[in-house]
Amino acid sequence: MTVFYLDGQAFESKSQETVLDALIRHGQRLNYSCKKGVCKTCLVQQVKGDIVVGSQRGLTLALKKRNYICACQCRPSEDLTLRSILPQDLFIGATIQQKTVLSDSIVGIGLKLDEAIRHQPGQYINLRRFDGLTRSYSPTNISGASLLELHVRRKYNGQFSDWLYHYASIGEQLLVQGPLGSRHYKSDFTADKLIIIAFGSGLGVAHGIINQALAEGHQGEIFLYVGVQNEADLYLHSQLLKMMLEYSQFSYQACITGNANPRKLGRRIMLGDPFSEAINVHQFDRQQQLFICGEPTAVNQSRERAFLNGYPIERVHALSFEYKDLRARARE
Ligand code: FES
Repeated sequence: MTVFYLDGQAFESKSQETVLDALIRHGQRLNYSCKKGVCKTCLVQQVKGDIVVGSQRGLTLALKKRNYICACQCRPSEDLTLRSILPQDLFIGATIQQKTVLSDSIVGIGLKLDEAIRHQPGQYINLRRFDGLTRSYSPTNISGASLLELHVRRKYNGQFSDWLYHYASIGEQLLVQGPLGSRHYKSDFTADKLIIIAFGSGLGVAHGIINQALAEGHQGEIFLYVGVQNEADLYLHSQLLKMMLEYSQFSYQACITGNANPRKLGRRIMLGDPFSEAINVHQFDRQQQLFICGEPTAVNQSRERAFLNGYPIERVHALSFEYKDLRARARE
């Protein structure tokens, strides 16, 4: 047994137990979701003891400097002393200033933030509603724009996404945490070929990555493959066709994964799976970066297939969304 402290109260942890698991076992009410160090909802501040290797993985420098750690990634050492974090330590205020229905299932949301944040397309934010319900979404535009833009896919039975699509109105107040995540376009990739596969509303993030790459003078070719269930789910199609005319290095292919009449499909739209299309055309070489954006199941399957096709882990950037409820109850 090891004893550690949170807000002055002592807790015992069992061997191999994380701080989070020990606190849950002791009946503490805590924010958490993934337990994998991804969502960052279980953050606490360490005020005494050595920082455990890996407990700050993926945090921004500012959070690391404040000794924030993920409780789910920390195994307590004797006398480890922690402090709870108040929501206002991590979240900033945001107001919905733009709302645009982009397709039958996708809505574009423009947020005005009380404080500017610097994000890279591919990173994500946690968005919290008035009742504490929180979801992760990836901004789709470049940092520095007046609004932070999100493309949100309305999920079947999705409490948050359905609310955003149907009910949230201009002027709605929300809270934003982030940006989080380290998988995004980097200036080191300038000469590389970018292969970007986007599923559903992952297109928003893919679009952001492409815009950023082009704005930074990307030299290599850029190939975008988009997978949607049916043609009605395809949005940004005309903008992407136009981009192909404007930028000779950019190529775009939309793939319908459901049923459709191939003879009735529009320009650059075909039946098929975007990953297979991409992999048929692009055998791995050392000058490539592969981005996979969208829902976790499709992204994870594609990532596995990428590894099986010889893509090395450091060149595969999986950008999936966490739809799970990131917080069950409001912290008191
Ligand atoms: S990072 Fe700890 S629960 Fe998600």
